[in-house]
Amino acid sequence: MVLFCSFSALLALSSSVLAFPFSGKEDGHLKSSVFEKLAAPPAGWERDDGVLFDKDGSSVKLRIHLVLQNMADFHDLALKIATPGHDLYGSHLDQHVIDSMIAPKDESSDLVMDWLKSQGLDNHATLSARGDSVILEASISQIEKLLDAEYSAFTHIETGSIVVRTLEYSLPDVFIGHVDMVQPTTFFGLKPMRSTIKNIHSFDEASMNADAVQAVSGCSGSQITPKCLSNLYGFSGATAYTAGLMGIAGFLEEYPSKSDLATFMNSYETEGNTAQTYTCDVVNGGSCPTSPGSPGLEANLDVQYARAITEKIPNVFYSVGGSPPIVGSGTNTNEPYLEFLDYLLSLSPSALPNTISISYGDDESTVPLDYANNVCNLFSQLGARGVSVLVASGDAGVGTSCKTGSAKTFTTSFPASCPWVTVVGGTTGNSPEAGWSDSGGGFSSVFGRPSYQNATVSKWLTTDKTHTAVSTYFNSSGRAYPDVAAEATDFVVVLSGGTTLVDGTSCATPTFASVIQLLNSDRVTSGKAGLGFLNPWLYSSAVSGLTDITSGKSTGCSGVISGAGFSAVAGWDPVTGLGTPKYTSLLTISRAT
Ligand SMILES: *[C@@H]1O[C@H](CO)[C@@H](O)[C@H](O)[C@H]1NC(C)=O
Ligand SMILES: *[C@@H]1O[C@H](CO)[C@@H](O)[C@H](O)[C@H]1NC(C)=O
Repeated sequence: MVLFCSFSALLALSSSVLAFPFSGKEDGHLKSSVFEKLAAPPAGWERDDGVLFDKDGSSVKLRIHLVLQNMADFHDLALKIATPGHDLYGSHLDQHVIDSMIAPKDESSDLVMDWLKSQGLDNHATLSARGDSVILEASISQIEKLLDAEYSAFTHIETGSIVVRTLEYSLPDVFIGHVDMVQPTTFFGLKPMRSTIKNIHSFDEASMNADAVQAVSGCSGSQITPKCLSNLYGFSGATAYTAGLMGIAGFLEEYPSKSDLATFMNSYETEGNTAQTYTCDVVNGGSCPTSPGSPGLEANLDVQYARAITEKIPNVFYSVGGSPPIVGSGTNTNEPYLEFLDYLLSLSPSALPNTISISYGDDESTVPLDYANNVCNLFSQLGARGVSVLVASGDAGVGTSCKTGSAKTFTTSFPASCPWVTVVGGTTGNSPEAGWSDSGGGFSSVFGRPSYQNATVSKWLTTDKTHTAVSTYFNSSGRAYPDVAAEATDFVVVLSGGTTLVDGTSCATPTFASVIQLLNSDRVTSGKAGLGFLNPWLYSSAVSGLTDITSGKSTGCSGVISGAGFSAVAGWDPVTGLGTPKYTSLLTISRAT
C-alpha cells in the first residue's frame, strides 16, 4: 500500500555547490522530485470531500526533519547504557550530549532555510530547539505550493476521526541526504488499543461468572481490579514510594475525568491511598479539562490503573493536542506523535518521568518508513535519557487485513515494532493465566532483530513447532514482539460515573508500566539511576522475575489466512513475550542490578 521512491545516487553535489543552490534563481526553483508517495490512503481511511476546510485561513506547523549523523554510533552507546554489567550501565545522558553527538550537518539547515527564503517563507520558519528540524508555520495553500502537494480531508471509517493529509509531496533533489521527512503529510495517525466490551451500571458480584481469575485472592469472577492485579503480580505489599514520576500518554482528545478517578479510587483502591490524583501537562496545544463533557475511555483506563498501582508516586498525564479536524480556520499543529516525543526530550532530567505508558499505535504498514525510523530514533534517545517506555502490542492478534499488495502476511503494529521500546502483550484468566486470543504480536518488516533478543528469539524459531505452518506469513529476521505481557481482559473502569468492562493491551500496558514504575521509584529512593531502556535487562537477568505463560493462542487474519496465530509456549513467544511480572522477584533483581 505504501510506495517509497528511491533516490539513491540521484545527485552527488559538492558542499560548495550545496551552500546556496537557490540564490540567484528567479523563481527559487531547482529541480524537485516526488519524495514520498502513497498509492492510496492507509487501510481504514477514506478521502472525504464533504469535510470543508479553509486552505488559506488554516495554518499548519510543518516539521522538515533533517538527516541526523552518527545514529548507529549513538545506538551502540544507548545499548551499552541499558546493558546490565556494562561499565556504562545506568550512565544516562543529558539531551545536549545526545544532540551534539547526532547533530545534522550545518549545511542541512542552511539549505532548507535558503530554500524557504527563496519562496518568501523564511520569516515563518525556525530551527527547532534541538536543531533536528526546521519548523515552518504557513497556510495549507502555501505548503501545497511549496511541496507540490494536495491536502485533502480523510475520515477513519471505524472511529470517525478526521485528518487533513496529502498522499504525496515533492522536495528539491538537492535535499537528498539532508532532509529525511516532512510531516504532517503522509502519516495518518494512531488509534487507542482497547475496546469496550460491556457496561455494567451496577456492579453486581452475584452475576459475575465464576471461572477465570478467582483462584487469586482479591479477584472475583473474571473481572480485573487493582486489588486482583496486586495479588496476581505480587505487589500488594509494595512500599508506598513517594519519589519518581509515572507518565501516561494521551492523544486524540482523550481526556481523563478526575471525578471518575475519585469514584474508581474509592471503590477499588485498597491500600488507603484513595485521595491520590495526577497532574496534567499540556503538549502541542492539547488541553486538560478537569471535568470533560465526555471523558475518554482510554484515558480513564490508563489513569485509573496507573494511579491505583503506583499508590503515592506522582503521576502525570500528557495531553497531546494535534488531532484535527482542521475545519474552518485556525492554527493546526496536527502531528501529535513527533511533537510528544520532542516535548519529552526537551524536559530537564528532573522533570522527565521514569516510566511512560503508551496505549496507542497502528498497523506498521500504514506508517511511512521515514516516520517510523525517526520516531523509533526518538524513543532510543528517551531510553538513553533514563526513561522506561512501555507500548501496547495491539489488539488484533496477528492482524486483520493481512495483505501487502497481493501477498498474504501477518499484520504488525507500530510503535510496537520499534526495537527501542518495551512491548506489552495480553493475557487472560488465571487458571492458568493464558495468552489472550487478540494479543498483538509478531515480527517487524521494517526493523531488524536487535541483539538483546537474538539468542531468545533464535531459540524460539528453531525449537517451537507450533509456528511452522504459518512461517511464510512473517519475516523471521524482524524485531520480534511483545517483550512481556499482563492481563488484558475484563478490566473494571469507571466512565462517566458508571462501571465499564474493557479489553485490550491498553489494559496490560499501564499495568506492566506501573509495576516498572514501582521498581524505578525504589531505585530513585535509594539514589540509583532508573532502569531506563528495559529490554537488555528483561532478556537477561530479569527473566527469572517473570512468570512464563505457556498456554493460550493468538488468532487473526480471519478469512484471509486459515489457522493464523501463534501459541504461547515455554520460553519467549510472540503472544506473551517473556511473561508477566512477579513483583517481589523483579524488585530483588532490580536491587542487584
Ligand atoms: C525482513 O526483515 C529484514 C530485517 O528487518 C529486512 O531487511 C528484509 O528486507 C525483510 N524482508 C522482507 C521480504 O520483507
Ligand atoms: C544470533 O543467535 C544465533 C543463535 O544463538 C547465533 O548463531 C548468531 O550468531 C547470533 N547472531 C548475532 C548477530 O549475534
